Amino acid sequence: MQAIKTVRATTFATLLAVAFLSVVFVSPVIAQDGKQIYGNRCALCHGADGDGKGVIMQTAPFGADLWKANDDAAIAKTIVEGKGKMPAIPLSPEETKAVVEYMKATMKK
Ligand code: HEC
Repeated sequence: MQAIKTVRATTFATLLAVAFLSVVFVSPVIAQDGKQIYGNRCALCHGADGDGKGVIMQTAPFGADLWKANDDAAIAKTIVEGKGKMPAIPLSPEETKAVVEYMKATMKK
């Protein structure tokens, strides 16, 4: 019995450690991907840091108003479905989430 308890405790501790490490080490990777995807797929029209000064067109900067009017899901919808003059950008749900997280972390002023 004692041995089983020890094994269970060890398994639990291992799972906790894995969960902790994924949060610590996987999150920055997602942020990094978001930055890369933004740079490749959005910056041309929205500017490298979301200021709207894109190379091929000028758009409204991503500021506080955008985040007041849109939640994450609304932004994700704009990305994958397009909106007005913006074409749909075909990103996977993971890529879309990464871009939204990156934008929230760096352009929510
Ligand atoms: C070909 C140029 C182009 C590209 C590429 C582009 N956008 Fe846009 N985007 C626009 C234009 C133009 C608008 C303004 C749309 C309108 O209201 O007519 C816009 C609007 C938006 C809005 C604001 C919507 C609102 O509710 O005001 C968001 C958010 C957005 N884009 C995110 C992105 C993201 C994230 C990417 C990259 C994954 C991206 N866009 C790529 C041109 C582009």
